[in-house]
Amino acid sequence: MDIATRWNERVVPRLVDLTLSDRVTGGWRARVAAGVSGDVLELGFGSGTNLSHYGASVDRVLAVEPSDVAWEKASVRIEAFGRPVERVGLDGASIDLPDASVDSVVSTWTMCTIPDLASALAEVRRVLRPGGRLHFVEHSLAPTKRVAGVQRRIQPTWGRLAGGCHLDRDIPAELGSAGLVTPDLRTRYASGFPPSRPFGWFVTGTAAPQEA
Ligand SMILES: C[S@@+](CC[C@H](N)C(=O)[O-])C[C@H]1O[C@@H](n2cnc3c(N)ncnc32)[C@H](O)[C@@H]1O
Repeated sequence: MDIATRWNERVVPRLVDLTLSDRVTGGWRARVAAGVSGDVLELGFGSGTNLSHYGASVDRVLAVEPSDVAWEKASVRIEAFGRPVERVGLDGASIDLPDASVDSVVSTWTMCTIPDLASALAEVRRVLRPGGRLHFVEHSLAPTKRVAGVQRRIQPTWGRLAGGCHLDRDIPAELGSAGLVTPDLRTRYASGFPPSRPFGWFVTGTAAPQEA
């Protein structure tokens, strides 16, 4: 195994678990999880950090997660959750679930990383039951020219360090191109600390298939 593969497979999932399990990200997770119920598909399940935020109305979680290290790290949280959690796939772009089979889809800081996001969003539309929604919080391309410029400049290095994460993806635009509407989209810098801005333009809300 070369160094890059070792970094991506062994180190990045542990860093993600560490950096995305603090109280601040927990607040964002709790707000996303508040509207979720029934059979829930999680894109990029990671180490299961959303599980403790789900309410009693969540019956089952279907996890799509390529990283075995993240999945192993999730085992303690899965046990504490006490309801079924099944790993149903490794790539959001091709999900082995029937059409109209889940009530909610959740994505927390994952749409930045899925290589073929357009196909993943087509899969989201396919597997959602009528009335179901995608609930998300993501970082995205910033509207501020200067910050967007920094995002584009550091992207090649950042992408290599952060397991293929894209700082310069315009997530609301990607959702729109996939035929998903975002009636309650909220956007803001996650912190007032200016150096964090290229990483911290957060977009959150729900997305629903556009009526034909
Ligand atoms: C920044 S992490 C976020 C993890 C988790 N959602 C969280 O909130 O802690 C991005 C996640 O996307 C996963 N991922 C990468 N490629 C993916 C793909 N093609 N399909 C689904 N998930 C993917 C990574 O393994 C990683 O767990």
